Amino acid sequence: MSIEDAIDNWSSVKKFTDREIEEEKLEKIFDLTTNAPTAFNLQPYRFIVLDSEEAKEKAVNSAIPINRWIQYADKIVVLVGDEEIDVNADQVLSHKLEEGKIDEEKAENLREMYKRYKNRDDEFIMGWLTRNTMIPATSFMLACKNFGIGSCPVRGFSQPKLSEKLDLKETERPILLIPIGYPREEDRNWRRDGEEIFEIR
Ligand SMILES: Cc1cc2nc3c(=O)[nH]c(=O)nc-3n(C[C@H](O)[C@H](O)[C@H](O)COP(=O)(O)O)c2cc1C
Repeated sequence: MSIEDAIDNWSSVKKFTDREIEEEKLEKIFDLTTNAPTAFNLQPYRFIVLDSEEAKEKAVNSAIPINRWIQYADKIVVLVGDEEIDVNADQVLSHKLEEGKIDEEKAENLREMYKRYKNRDDEFIMGWLTRNTMIPATSFMLACKNFGIGSCPVRGFSQPKLSEKLDLKETERPILLIPIGYPREEDRNWRRDGEEIFEIR
């Protein structure tokens, strides 16, 4: 499927067949997803795939009643952001150092800068996490679409409830649920025309 087709034929999928998603497809989807850009390439996110009925129930029971349909997805993927936004800084910087893109002094300056961002207020950090998980979420959903797998972004759930049920790290926040499965039904929704959503100045 071309990128054009994947984007042009987008619809969220909320009704699924019983067909299980193949593990190798899931691996390819995450290999594609990891290419998504993040600020300073810090990648402070991970996905948790709830596959067993027991694991899926944790998401279902954290969702608002109108979202109980997620129980019928083959898997429910939880996108988690880390308030410790420099959680991967050592890896990021060691790659840059190895590639000769920066020297030790520059690495130290970057490390300090990441810390200054990390120590800003809650509102700033939540904005950071939202910004830095939405592009990976989009890449993930389009990668699913590429393999014929349906998905839907779902924000209607209790973050504290799900954090507790999944035993997340103190600094981790569940940002989005993405139920996935082979589509049983797809329903296209109205969109504005392209010409309505931009202006050239
Ligand atoms: C940030 C975000 C949160 C959403 N939360 C929910 C949700 O809690 N429950 C739900 O059924 N759909 C949810 N959706 C899906 C939207 O309702 C859906 O994308 C929109 O109606 C357009 O339909 P389409 O994606 O099928 O074109 C959410 C979408 C986004 C982008």
